Amino acid sequence: MVTAVYPGTFDPITNGHVDIAVRASKAFDKVIIAIYEDSPKRVVFNVEERVGFCREAVSHVPNIQVTSFTGLLVEYVRSVGAQVMFRGLRAGSDFDYEFDMALMNKNLAPDLDAVFFMSSLEWQFLSSSRMKEVVGLGGDVSHLVPPDVDRALRAKLQGSAQ
Ligand code: COA
Repeated sequence: MVTAVYPGTFDPITNGHVDIAVRASKAFDKVIIAIYEDSPKRVVFNVEERVGFCREAVSHVPNIQVTSFTGLLVEYVRSVGAQVMFRGLRAGSDFDYEFDMALMNKNLAPDLDAVFFMSSLEWQFLSSSRMKEVVGLGGDVSHLVPPDVDRALRAKLQGSAQ
């Protein structure tokens, strides 16, 4: 049985992340979306909110679990008995960032492997900060994020949640 961890800040989860997680759930026996609690990013949503959005977004997929973690990713991956970490790759610009992290993780834990899923064309341009910027300026991202994320973004960044 292969268990794979999908780590990230997920502030918030977007349709691009959901696409990657659902596709991975067909490739691995069990997927754990692992939300990093100590992200250096200035997050809009606290960890409980981020976990809640992710759980709701993948509630239709039985072999995906959602949890949060602190500390080193590779230690968390080992602690849950997983063998693989995976991430999504959008345009070429993601490669350097991901390659760098994957090499460091490999150095720390040679027994673990990193796997990358190419982002689907329709979500190539998505990023969590872009979503927040657009909503903050009054734009509509309802077709790019799960419905409860859309409501929460508007509530936090526009002061409206209808
Ligand atoms: N679709 C849409 N957006 C995507 C995406 C996809 N398929 N793949 C990545 N993104 C976007 C995200 O929206 C996010 O955008 P943002 O920067 O504008 O917020 C960005 O790309 C990446 O964010 P995310 O996927 O949430 O992950 P991250 O890069 O914040 O996660 C960790 C980094 C948590 C994996 C890393 O910091 C880590 O492992 N930390 C644990 C501590 C550790 O072990 N450190 C050493 C690591 S070598």
